[in-house]
Amino acid sequence: MVSYCPGMNATRIQVRAGRADYPVVVGADAIASLRHELDALGLGPRRILISSPRVWRLHHKRFGSLRDSGPPVLVADGERAKTLRNVERVLDALIRVKADRSIVVVAIGGGVIGDLVGFAAASYLRGVRVVHVPTTVMAQVDSAIGGKTGVNHRLGKNLIGAFHAPSLVVADPTVLSTLSPREFRSGLYEVIKYGIIADASLIDRMSAALPAIIARDPEALTPLVDASCRIKAAVVSDDERESGLRRILNFGHTVGHALEAATSYRRFLHGEAVAYGMLAALSIGVDRSLTSRAAYDAVLALITKLGPLPDIRDIATRDILTAIGRDKKVLAGTLHFVAAPRLGTTATLTDVTTAEVRAALRRIAKLVPKKSTHSS
Ligand SMILES: NC(=O)c1ccc[n+]([C@@H]2O[C@H](COP(=O)([O-])OP(=O)(O)OC[C@H]3O[C@@H](n4cnc5c(N)ncnc54)[C@H](O)[C@@H]3O)[C@@H](O)[C@H]2O)c1
Ligand SMILES: [Zn+2]
Repeated sequence: MVSYCPGMNATRIQVRAGRADYPVVVGADAIASLRHELDALGLGPRRILISSPRVWRLHHKRFGSLRDSGPPVLVADGERAKTLRNVERVLDALIRVKADRSIVVVAIGGGVIGDLVGFAAASYLRGVRVVHVPTTVMAQVDSAIGGKTGVNHRLGKNLIGAFHAPSLVVADPTVLSTLSPREFRSGLYEVIKYGIIADASLIDRMSAALPAIIARDPEALTPLVDASCRIKAAVVSDDERESGLRRILNFGHTVGHALEAATSYRRFLHGEAVAYGMLAALSIGVDRSLTSRAAYDAVLALITKLGPLPDIRDIATRDILTAIGRDKKVLAGTLHFVAAPRLGTTATLTDVTTAEVRAALRRIAKLVPKKSTHSS
């Protein structure tokens, strides 16, 4: 007998983590099999769903099979909502339903919901199980995997947190159809990052399928999410606590973070700043004759075709260098700059000079589109 099995075409990626390994299930309509996955892994019977008003309004129908968990707890998302106050709201809800250690917290949303709900789950009764159902590209390919959780403090981003691996991640690219174009592209720059650091064919495949990707065709998106999750899973499996290998995930993030900081986190979505940062990192490689011009050109062409980025021409180089310097202090004095000698490979440079960064910033500033995209 042939019976319909939701999520049958989903792929499973196993992540190694300290306490217990966990699967990442990736597939178009994988959410349809969420109930089945939870039951099969013994993640129940008591569950609590946590989401944001926006995500729940757009996608609540997909979670009908979990109706017996009761009404969801909705907390705001967006970077400004990533606060201890909202963690407290999640904790309040857990206490109110008298959740004990057996509770399974299901976080449904982007990276902000995932990070803050993950942190609440890490601290409630010193740790209860959490399942991530990421709904942004950023969350599906990055934040839901690896067990880093936390919130911002008014004096800095992600200053409060804990490592708390999930028990299951279900990434369903069909939910990405409702993302704003800018949020959607912002996550895709991180997919390009995975191509640069670990899988050159991903860059070629993205370039070839660009119209279908931009149209959010699940058949085009699923292989990208799958490939990205595999790379992130492999890296964090080998380096759960970020000692060395995990550093390659920071490709493009030295200059990217500096651009975000120099504009007080107001101008860029994270991925947009990373797009510039990746071009700067490749440019430094080209100037050292470490990276080929063809590699730089291939990534530039892909980023350009994907869509516009915010203008950077008015950001003072001095401010960007100051922000990089601050990052360096955090790293005990040595800047570990990740370069890409060839697409698909990385090398760590510890001797990148200010002059080299200046030259890269000059090059990338020239790439900027005329039209401002701050509001698109
Ligand atoms: N834990 C980690 O390892 C890790 C890694 C990378 C990023 N992060 C964190 O992730 C956060 C960024 O995540 P994000 O970009 O997903 O931001 P986000 O969670 O704020 O989501 C961005 C916006 O998209 C909306 N949204 C979410 N899903 C949607 C959907 N399917 N349709 C329509 N709108 C939707 C949200 O309401 C929000 O307005 C940052 O706080 C960052 O620090 C964490
Ligand atoms: Zn990033």
